[in-house]
Amino acid sequence: MPTPSPMLVCPRCRRADAGGLHVGTLDPGGEGLRCQACGAEYPLVDGIPVVARDCAPLLAADTPAGAALADIYARSTAGPLQDWLRGVVPVGALELGGGVGVRPGTVVLDQGLPMLRLARGAGAGACVCADLLDPPFLPGAFDVVVLANVLDLLIDPLLAFQQAFALAGPGGRLVVTCPYAFTGDGPPRFTPADLGGGFGAVQAGALTLVEAHELEWPLRTTARLTQVHRTDAFVFEKRVG
Ligand SMILES: C[S@@+](CC[C@H](N)C(=O)[O-])C[C@H]1O[C@@H](n2cnc3c(N)ncnc32)[C@H](O)[C@@H]1O
Ligand SMILES: [Zn+2]
Repeated sequence: MPTPSPMLVCPRCRRADAGGLHVGTLDPGGEGLRCQACGAEYPLVDGIPVVARDCAPLLAADTPAGAALADIYARSTAGPLQDWLRGVVPVGALELGGGVGVRPGTVVLDQGLPMLRLARGAGAGACVCADLLDPPFLPGAFDVVVLANVLDLLIDPLLAFQQAFALAGPGGRLVVTCPYAFTGDGPPRFTPADLGGGFGAVQAGALTLVEAHELEWPLRTTARLTQVHRTDAFVFEKRVG
């Protein structure tokens, strides 16, 4: 059975106040999707919705270099981390920064259209081009949310973790893996201990740590070169109530 596409909400008019969260949902309209609340329009590129406050950078990044990067992930499906992910990530899970997806049948959110074309070809349940720091979904919409090998690329890994937490429903799970291959300037923005503690959420009782492993992640950077990262891999469960 195909995975149902999740409801998309408008990042431009979403707001929270004393009356709760106010969201506009996206329906087909114009050339792509239109917000039923504010009328904002979002494009479809090869059938993939691009849903961000500013879609221009996501559209501009749809380049041959992006496609070459996507090919690396598409040919790197074999390895201990990949096997483990296929076991703990079910159909219908949301993958944030999902690349080409860790298995068929998930909802893949990524900023890269080339990644998403390959994810769709590999059997993703739904693909959305968006910023994972501002994801266009309702809170609690997913049973499992995945952050695989993306937190260490981000300026604000804590915000990304908080978004993943918000998107998981009560009793839902977070699957988080990290090679700590930080890019960019400056010192690392978090440690393995920060991550294993769910950035404080385990100590606060909001998450329970269910599994923790150290797993190798081979990445076939070229046809002749494989880089093996050592990753930490965690499963957390969100407290009910
Ligand atoms: C190292 S790859 C990992 C891909 C996949 N999760 C895996 O483990 O094979 C990181 C992915 O995160 C995506 N990404 C990075 N920052 C992002 C952001 N702010 N919003 C959405 N996707 C992002 C990249 O485009 C890339 O596909
Ligand atoms: Zn709107």
